[in-house]
Amino acid sequence: MKGIILSGGSGTRLRPLTKMTSKQLLPVYNRPMIYYPLNTLLKAGIRDILIIVAPDHAGNYLNLLGSGREFGARFTYEIQDEPRGLADAFIIGESFLDDESVTMILGDNIFVDDFSDDIKSFTSGGRIFAKEVDDPKRFGIVEFDEQGKVLSIEEKPENPKSNYAIPGLYIFDNQVSMIAKSIEPSERGEIEITEIQNAYLEKEMLDVRKVEGEWIDAGTHDSLLDAGLLVRDKVDVKMII
Ligand code: TTP
Repeated sequence: MKGIILSGGSGTRLRPLTKMTSKQLLPVYNRPMIYYPLNTLLKAGIRDILIIVAPDHAGNYLNLLGSGREFGARFTYEIQDEPRGLADAFIIGESFLDDESVTMILGDNIFVDDFSDDIKSFTSGGRIFAKEVDDPKRFGIVEFDEQGKVLSIEEKPENPKSNYAIPGLYIFDNQVSMIAKSIEPSERGEIEITEIQNAYLEKEMLDVRKVEGEWIDAGTHDSLLDAGLLVRDKVDVKMII
């Protein structure tokens, strides 16, 4: 199992903070934001990690994280020239993945849960997660029937069919790069990760598990503050770095 941290994007909602650095390098209480998703991968035993960054502040990532040796890991870096969408991670990462399965995590997503069992027990297909939110229009949304079977997955729906958002942690087998390459850009000009999820769903190879603990997407001023408070006040964000 390899890991990818997708840490590009433009961070427009966090301006002016993101005029002089990358969103995922901003502090979340006492650590740079990217430490939290990195911690999630390391805790699950993933040691070979590709970090995808935007061109503007790429050097800062090397300064901060280096080779990975300090973390007992090996880091590889790639530049995403334009924010073409989350599914682009698997196109940029194709040669790095070298036909292995991958856990991809977004550089601004902070989880309290430990995903070691979900990652270590993965064999094939796709495995994603669901967490109830108050503002479903902002996320990819998964709809379940009464037995918990997945009925649909939609990206930022106008009329959400449920309140279950898909957080930024995704596990896929070695088909994922091929699927990503077949996706056409959406109306907002991005290749959407929900299309990958739907491709696995159609093949009945998608597993969706509920996230129990808190999850924060730290991409707005309010959620960045909430993330800092979560880390400061909750003893259960277990950090190994
Ligand atoms: P977003 O928060 O949706 O986008 P953004 O970071 O550009 O922020 P804003 O909307 O405020 O301009 O992205 C979610 C995560 O995915 C974030 O960590 C950035 C990353 N990302 C990429 O690395 N490349 C991409 O092409 C996109 C769309 C996002």
